[in-house]
Amino acid sequence: MSDTEAESSLRIYNFIHADLKDAFAEDVRRGLASAPKQLPPKYFYDELGSQLFEAICLLPEYYLTRAETEIFSRYADEMVGEAMGEASTKEVTLLEMGSGSAQKTRLVLDALIKRRNALHYIPVDISLAALKKSARLLLAAYPPPTLLRVTAYASDYNTALAHLHKNHNERGRTLALFLGSNIGNFNPIEAESFLQSLRAILRERDCLLVGADLKKERKALEAAYDDSIGLTSAFNLNLLNRINRELDADFNVRLFRHVALYNEAEGCVEIYLESERAQRVALRGLNTEVDFAAGERTHTENSYKYDTSELATLAARTGFEVKRTWFDDKQQFSSSLFVAV
Ligand code: AVI
Repeated sequence: MSDTEAESSLRIYNFIHADLKDAFAEDVRRGLASAPKQLPPKYFYDELGSQLFEAICLLPEYYLTRAETEIFSRYADEMVGEAMGEASTKEVTLLEMGSGSAQKTRLVLDALIKRRNALHYIPVDISLAALKKSARLLLAAYPPPTLLRVTAYASDYNTALAHLHKNHNERGRTLALFLGSNIGNFNPIEAESFLQSLRAILRERDCLLVGADLKKERKALEAAYDDSIGLTSAFNLNLLNRINRELDADFNVRLFRHVALYNEAEGCVEIYLESERAQRVALRGLNTEVDFAAGERTHTENSYKYDTSELATLAARTGFEVKRTWFDDKQQFSSSLFVAV
């Protein structure tokens, strides 16, 4: 079941309601009962979490967003040209998984609009607030006669993909976007299964643009995830605030500490919340109490880093081929155009 809100060129499907609240409770219960403890990163993005992430993207240490924006500013026309070829279909679909503030999307939209395509933009994001804001800003930035309509999904990826699967024949040539190193928040098995599900709603020759952070020296990676003004720490700790609020828990957030470590063997920055002392936390909404040992770490996020050969393997295993890859000047980040084969 979804709630829908419709204006003439904007439709919003809201799949974030009771089901997702139940899923949050269940994921927290299971994650804190497991050894080692873990919490899924998708729950970072409540209203404050989404805004903290926007702020992280502006940090000097968090080079990822700047590097990807540099790539798009320079190559968006080329990217769109490679993706669309000569196809001049009536309406092009731009599907974006994890759209957030959709800042970089504008560079792609501009490039598509230059080609005089009518556009159907389909952003999918877990944060309803971020989605509403970005959809309205986009429609205001591209007023008629630009032929832009937006169908937004406030949803987790799987729910949105299942819904999109049902009416996938109605869409024109599709360019899907999975930007900002969102792929990095999946482990390799999850990344494959996500790309397979995404491939299933595309047709041959449709394209997917994947933004992946590249492997690099530990110092730069750890600084990006443990910044000097503590924003990433606040982003991580805010998950405990959310549990307090939504599951009537009594975490003392000051008694936990943010930890970010690069696991070079796995090619992954691992993020944890470390308990500063032995403590017991009540989660009244779950009717349970959880004990934390001094120094015990709860794993909250992985951020995998890639190299180009790993990206090619990932494409080949999920029904795509890498057509081209673009880099920023410092070769910190990559944008790869996957073509559905
Ligand atoms: C959303 N995602 C790609 C970010 C990343 O870099 O893995 C989330 C993040 N976590 C801490 N800082 C940023």
